[in-house]
Amino acid sequence: MSKVTVVGAGNVGATVANVLAHKDIVKEVVLLDIKGDFAKGKALDTWQQAPIDYYSTTVTGTSDYRKTRNSDIVVITAGIPRRPGMSRDDLISTNAKIVSSVTTSIMKYSKNPIIIIVSNPLDVMTYAAFKASKLKDTRVFGMAGILDTARYRAFLATELNVSPKDIQAVLMGGHGDTMVPLPRYTTVGGIPVTEMIDKDKLKAIVERTKKGGGELVKLMGTSAWYAPGAAAAQMVESIVKDENRIFPCCVKLNGQYGLKDMFLGAPVKLGKKGITEVIELKLNKSETKLLHNSAKAVQGVMKVFNKMKLK
Ligand code: LAC
Repeated sequence: MSKVTVVGAGNVGATVANVLAHKDIVKEVVLLDIKGDFAKGKALDTWQQAPIDYYSTTVTGTSDYRKTRNSDIVVITAGIPRRPGMSRDDLISTNAKIVSSVTTSIMKYSKNPIIIIVSNPLDVMTYAAFKASKLKDTRVFGMAGILDTARYRAFLATELNVSPKDIQAVLMGGHGDTMVPLPRYTTVGGIPVTEMIDKDKLKAIVERTKKGGGELVKLMGTSAWYAPGAAAAQMVESIVKDENRIFPCCVKLNGQYGLKDMFLGAPVKLGKKGITEVIELKLNKSETKLLHNSAKAVQGVMKVFNKMKLK
C-alpha cells in the first residue's frame, strides 16, 4: 500500500487528492501546502467525504515536509496558475524557484520517490524537478499529455456524438500552443478518425485542442483543475497498480525522435518503476516537423531556466 504526497493544495492539488482518495488504491495521501491550515481544511473535507463515497484512503493536510517522509509517489502542483493574457511560459521565473525548492525539500524525507510534475510551464518544470531531485529519469516525469489528449478526445466526442470512452488518441510535444495532436493515431471505436470526420472539422478540433488550456483560462480567469487533477491521479493509478498503461507523458528524451537532453511529451508505458518504455512512433515528415517545432519552443523556455542558475 502506497503513500502519495501532493504538493500544493490549490484547485489542481486538491482535486488530485480528492480523485485519488475516490479511487481507494493507496493507503495515505498527504496534501502539503505552505498555507498549512488551508491544506488541512481541504484534506479534512476530502476525508469527511469518505463515509459518503466509501473509501479508506486517509487524507491529511500539512505544511510540514517531515509528514511526507517515505512517500512512494509525489505529485507537485505548486506554483502560480496563469491568468488571462498570460502564456504558461510567463510563469517560469516564479514557478522554477518553487518547483526546485519543493523538490529539494521532498528529497530530504523520501529516498527514491516517483515524482510527477503538474506545475507550469510543464516541460521545463519537469526538467527543473529532475535536476533538483537527482533521481533516475524514469522516475521524474510530467502530466500534460493525458490532459491535452482528453481535451482533444472530448471535442471529438461532442462533434461525432459518440462516447468519449471510445476515442483513443496520441498527442505529442510540449504543453503549450505548439503541442502536436496526431490524427493519424486517433481512433473512434477502433476506426481511424479520418474516416469519421471531414478534414476541416478535424483541423479545427486540433487547433482548439492546442489552445484548450487558454480557452478555460479565458472562461474562468484562472486555469483548469478537474481534468488536470484527474489526469495526474490516473498516472498515479497506473504506477500503483503497475498497469503499464500507455499515456502521453512529459519525459526525458535520450535520442528518441532525434531529441535529447530535454523533457517533452511522448507516449510511454507507466508502471511501478515509473516510465518503463518510451514508445517511438514512426512519425512522417510533417509530424516530425511539428514535433521539432514544439521542441524548439520548449528549448527556448529551458534557456530562460538555465540562465536562472538555480541549484
Ligand atoms: C491547463 C493547465 C493546467 O492546460 O496547464 O489547463
